[in-house]
Amino acid sequence: MKIAVLISGRGSNLQSLIDACSDDDFPVDISLVISNKADALGLKRASEVSIPTKVFNHKDFSTREEFDTAMSDAIEASGAEFICLAGFMRLLSDDFVKSWRDKLINIHPSLLPSFKGLHVHEQVIERGARFSGCTVHFVRSAMDEGPILAQAVVPVLPDDTADTLGARVLEQEHIIYPLALRLIAEGKVRVSGERAIIDGHKTPNISLTNPEK
Ligand code: GAR
Repeated sequence: MKIAVLISGRGSNLQSLIDACSDDDFPVDISLVISNKADALGLKRASEVSIPTKVFNHKDFSTREEFDTAMSDAIEASGAEFICLAGFMRLLSDDFVKSWRDKLINIHPSLLPSFKGLHVHEQVIERGARFSGCTVHFVRSAMDEGPILAQAVVPVLPDDTADTLGARVLEQEHIIYPLALRLIAEGKVRVSGERAIIDGHKTPNISLTNPEK
């Protein structure tokens, strides 16, 4: 399966996908990396392994729709049939989301549907949540909404800062994103209503401690 990855910054999740794809057994190739920021570190990570990159600066477009259409055209031209958002910090237009429905996934650093939006780890600590984690989900029009494909859970420790919690969550992001993508590429995932169902798994979620169950 050929995919495009959309980023805005550091690109550590992109790196986890690049690393997974470097394994011959992993059924995915990255055909394009798009960033809306020219200085995104993730662009360097892609170039280092000769993955084509493109920058679309949203400020160069008069509407969100025009920006999204330019990205969509580039993604199709690259041969990608599926999109992974990896720290892409722009809302996508309804048209974009509709035309890539069930072919567009995102990773978010909380246990959705709790703690959507920005400054997630700060929100978690402020609310005194005992657990946090990360979620891979299909993208729908509303922000951080859509059928949940995979989650991992981490404890929130009493002396956590947003940085220490964020680092603990990020470690898990790098595990579940490639896992979720592999399941899709192997044709094991179907969306039914608002649930993503993984064939051969008893529940639609992946258990962190034993991913095969
Ligand atoms: C990741 O923690 C990702 O979950 C988050 O941005 C970070 C990007 O880091 N995404 C969102 O908050 C989307 N709502 P990265 O550039 O190192 O992958």
